[in-house]
Amino acid sequence: MYRFFKPILFLLSPEKAHKITMRLLICARYTPGVRFLLQKLFVFNDVRLEKNILGLHFKNPVGLAAGFDKDAHYIEVLTDLGFGFIEVGTVTPIAQSGNEQPRLFRLPESEALINRMGFNNGGVEAMVERLKKIKNRQVIIGGNIGKNKITPNETAYSDYEKCFLALFPYVDYFVVNVSSPNTPDLRALQDKEPLNFLLARIQLLNNQKEKSKPVLLKIAPDLNISQLDDILQIVASNKLAGIVATNTTISRESLKENSELIKKIGIGGVSGKPVRDASTHIIRYLRQNTKQKDLVIIGVGGIASGEDALEKFKAGADLIQIYTGLVYEGPGLVKAINKKLLSK
Ligand code: FNR
Repeated sequence: MYRFFKPILFLLSPEKAHKITMRLLICARYTPGVRFLLQKLFVFNDVRLEKNILGLHFKNPVGLAAGFDKDAHYIEVLTDLGFGFIEVGTVTPIAQSGNEQPRLFRLPESEALINRMGFNNGGVEAMVERLKKIKNRQVIIGGNIGKNKITPNETAYSDYEKCFLALFPYVDYFVVNVSSPNTPDLRALQDKEPLNFLLARIQLLNNQKEKSKPVLLKIAPDLNISQLDDILQIVASNKLAGIVATNTTISRESLKENSELIKKIGIGGVSGKPVRDASTHIIRYLRQNTKQKDLVIIGVGGIASGEDALEKFKAGADLIQIYTGLVYEGPGLVKAINKKLLSK
């Protein structure tokens, strides 16, 4: 069915296509009988897909990556598309509009996207109000937290703390995002000292709670081995639950479009097929080199088929997430991956 809609959606700007698709799905969901149809089409339940990880029960291991539902507008309809978990955000303490449009570009030959959204979001309080209103929640929700553009790195911890505290009652796990290429200097927070400081502050708050929640760190695919070793050490010493590997890449390697076009698009993070192998290599490295027996790895980057997903699990992922694959393959991808996992 997506084969029919995709050429129409691809006539629109990527951001417009995203908004229109999600609004149509929400409208469809409230039309009598259609919600049942959506679930029938997309939801695929099988006990063999269920996983107990992070102290949580996942109906299946296929999640929605951060950035797709930045403000937790679409939880219910995304649940009807069969996701095992949904990561909302990245959210910041104060609402911000992000970078100027256009800021999201399709690269169809490469089955990729370039984005420089810049954490456009409505702020954490608005997200909390939306999460409060969800009735009979059926899905695991992760809260991906970040800092406002105007906040300097020296005080960034306070932005992460605000988001952490505000979201704590409403999400099941947290992801500390220090790996987006679209907030100036954000990725410097992946360096040893600031990262250690930031994670220690979050865990201090976490441990003051009656029952702490799993905190994971989301990393870039552009880190070298020595940086990955530092990350593993810092994640272990701060007793983080896991790592989300990976975010988008700043590399322009393996793009098939001509270099003039790529240059014209300008800065931003590449997602989709070109990031697939880098992400898989990082997952494998983390799994092979961690001393944390229970380190949870969420594998994300370039998953566009059941085979791609299997590769991530073989490399050492416990759960996976998709974003760009949805744009190119459509929502049927979630079910297709889950079916493939059963047939392996
Ligand atoms: C993203 N991604 C992202 N990640 C994050 O942690 N916070 C965010 O706000 C966003 N925003 C965002 C916007 C857009 C338009 C895209 C395409 C991606 C990164 C995303 O979660 C994922 O890590 C990468 O896109 C790699 O996975 P895919 O897209 O190759 O499946």
